[in-house]
Amino acid sequence: MADTEILMAAIRGESRLIDAAMYTDLDALAETADGLLTEILRYSLFNGGKRIRPLLVVLATRLCGRSDPAVYDLARAFEYLHAATLMHDDVIDNAETRRGRPSVFKKFGLVAAILAGDFLHARSMAIVGESAGTEALSVFSEATGRIVDGEFLQIRNAADHNLREEDYQRAILGKTGLLIAAACEVGAIWAGRGIEERLALRSYGIHLGCAFQIIDDILDYQGDTGKTGKAVGNDLVEGKMTLPLILTMQQADQEDRLRLQEILADEVLRRHAFAEVSCLIEKYNGFSLSRRKAEEAATAALTQLEVFPGKAGGQEKKILQGLVKYVLDREK
Ligand code: IPE
Ligand code: IPE
Ligand code: MG
Ligand code: MG
Repeated sequence: MADTEILMAAIRGESRLIDAAMYTDLDALAETADGLLTEILRYSLFNGGKRIRPLLVVLATRLCGRSDPAVYDLARAFEYLHAATLMHDDVIDNAETRRGRPSVFKKFGLVAAILAGDFLHARSMAIVGESAGTEALSVFSEATGRIVDGEFLQIRNAADHNLREEDYQRAILGKTGLLIAAACEVGAIWAGRGIEERLALRSYGIHLGCAFQIIDDILDYQGDTGKTGKAVGNDLVEGKMTLPLILTMQQADQEDRLRLQEILADEVLRRHAFAEVSCLIEKYNGFSLSRRKAEEAATAALTQLEVFPGKAGGQEKKILQGLVKYVLDREK
């Protein structure tokens, strides 16, 4: 099988097993939890998510030499926390569509989105602690805290139209990179591997996660809603200083820079100037320069896998390498 086929088969196969572990858990929860809560959990969890984070847990454990079906119970915690962050993120970003359907707060209301997110957050912590121990829980909790910090930083960054790239990188590391890194690192901890492998996997996850977010930020301008399941242009409406815009501001001549600043400072213009801003980003190669940054992060991710030589975990290593390419090429 070609590498891409191996990867796609792995994504499909593992997703089924991850979903089965989540269904089992939700069925048990449904016996005691509120009916509306379980409805929201099902709505938010089973609607076409890519399952990247739990997949990384599974692959990391196998790469580290532990093959045990109990990994799916652990892995689901990463999808729970991810779903919790999406529920809250859609409130923060005022995003009405998620995975091609109304976002949780749009369908069930703000209070329900906050509470269901909190529930998944709590459940994910309990699972990681129970199945992987306190060290893993500490990695997971640190990542969770950094997501919140990253969202705060992103709000602060939105006020700075001449944002430095490093401030953007710090925000995406917090809000996206560290959870993906924690999925990889917790996998290594669960498999009982030493510090070298653990840190290599963490670092792989950080670089992969940052590449993932840069591509997400490009897709927010150039993606196809039918594929991403999210509205295009929402980052601009929200005034987010994402990489394509930051790099454009750095390159633009004075006239274009002033025009961009004018648009960014005005909520009505942001809502209506999407085509104009996209053209300006294109004019200054903001999309291709951003893609190049994502590729650099991807290359750094691949380098980390060199710690895992030889045949053991050969298949998993290939899939983790394939995942890097998948993240760069993704349309959804
Ligand atoms: C969306 O993550 C949030 C970001 C970090 C960009 P995904 O693109 O992994 O979302 P799903 O789970 O596949 O919908
Ligand atoms: C998502 O960042 C990060 C978290 C969920 C914490 P975005 O806001 O860019 O993700 P989307 O585009 O809404 O999926
Ligand atoms: Mg968002
Ligand atoms: Mg986005």
